[in-house]
Amino acid sequence: MSATHTSSTPKRVLSGMRPTGRLHLGNYMGALRNWVELQHEKNDGGGLKYECFFFIADLHALTTEYADPSGIQQSIQDVAMDFLAAGLDETSIFVQSDVPQHSELFTLFAMFTPLSWLERVPTYKDQQEQLREKDLNTYGFLGYPLLQAADILLYRPDFVPVGQDQVAHVELTREVARKFNSHYKPGKQDVLPEPKVLVTASPKLPGTDGRKMSKSYGNTISLTEPEAEVRKKLKTMVTDPARVRRTDPGNPEVCPVGDLHKVFSSDETRLKVWEGCTTAGIGCIECKGWAADGIVAVLEPIQARRKKYEANPKLVTEILTAGAVRAKENAEATMQQVRHAMKLG
Ligand code: TRP
Ligand code: SF4
Repeated sequence: MSATHTSSTPKRVLSGMRPTGRLHLGNYMGALRNWVELQHEKNDGGGLKYECFFFIADLHALTTEYADPSGIQQSIQDVAMDFLAAGLDETSIFVQSDVPQHSELFTLFAMFTPLSWLERVPTYKDQQEQLREKDLNTYGFLGYPLLQAADILLYRPDFVPVGQDQVAHVELTREVARKFNSHYKPGKQDVLPEPKVLVTASPKLPGTDGRKMSKSYGNTISLTEPEAEVRKKLKTMVTDPARVRRTDPGNPEVCPVGDLHKVFSSDETRLKVWEGCTTAGIGCIECKGWAADGIVAVLEPIQARRKKYEANPKLVTEILTAGAVRAKENAEATMQQVRHAMKLG
C-alpha cells in the first residue's frame, strides 16, 4: 500500500476484447488505437501516466461460441498478432483463460449477485435478438457481464477504457464492487475499489455497404488487407445515392466515403472533397482513391510490424505467457483478499 499518491503514481487501466478473428479498421479506430495511446501517455513528472492491462477475452467468446469452439484458438492468435502489430507492444497482453482467477472471482460474485441485475442489462436481450440463430438461453450468456465484472475488479483498475456500448457493463461492475465492499468488510479499506469508465473516442466508421463497420455485416476492411484489396473494396463502396451521374453534385455529409475522409484524410484533402463533390467538380472514383490513400497510410506501419511477428510466432506465444505471469501475480493478490473477506481461508 503506498502512503501517498503523487501525480507520478501511474493510474491503472484495464480493458479486454473478445477474440473474433482478424481485427478490422472499426476495432482499431474504436478501441485499439486508444489503448496504444494510453500505453504511451506521460504524466507531469515525465513518467508513465497509466499502468496498462489488456487481455483477450476467450471465455467471453465461449458464451456465444460454445456449440462450436473450434475457431477460438486461431482467433486468439490473430487478435494477439493484431494487438502487437497495432503497437500494443510496450505493455503486457494476456489471454483471459490463462489466468484462472477470472473464473474463480466470477463464481464468488455469482453467489450474491441478484438475477434481476443481469436480466436488466440492455445488451442481454439485444444480443439474444441479434444472434437468433444461436441458443443463448444459457446461464453463461446471462452471466456475461458478471464475468466482465470479475475481469475488471480482479486488477483493481482506476479506469476501464471502453466504447459507449460497454458502459452498462462497467456500471454493473461498480454495483457489484459496492455490494461486495459493503457486505464483506475485513478491514477499514474496501477490497475492490470502484473503477471509472473512460469512454474513448470512437468515430463513426462505415463499412463498404454504408452500415457501421462490423464483422457480422461482412463489410469490413481488415488490418491485414493488402493495398490492392483496400482500393478494390473502396471502388464498390456505396456513395451519396443522390449523385447518380458524374455531373450531379453530391453531399459528402450523407456519403459513407465522406465519413471515411473525416477519419482518414488531411484537412487539405477534405477541403478538396467537400468543394469538388458539392460542385460536381470531382468524380466518385477519384474521391474514393483519396480515401483509400488515407486508409493505406494507416495500415502500412501496422502491416510492417505484423510481418515481424508473423515471421516469429513463437515470440507471440512468449509475450502472451509473460503477460499471463504478470496478470496472475496481480490477480492472485486480489483473490487472497477476496477469499479472506468471504471467509474462504
Ligand atoms: N465485453 C467486451 C466487448 O465485447 C469485452 C470485455 C470482456 C471487456 N471483459 C472485459 C472489456 C473487461 C473491458 C473490460 O467489447
Ligand atoms: Fe461520396 Fe466522394 Fe462521391 Fe461525393 S465525390 S458522393 S463524397 S464518393
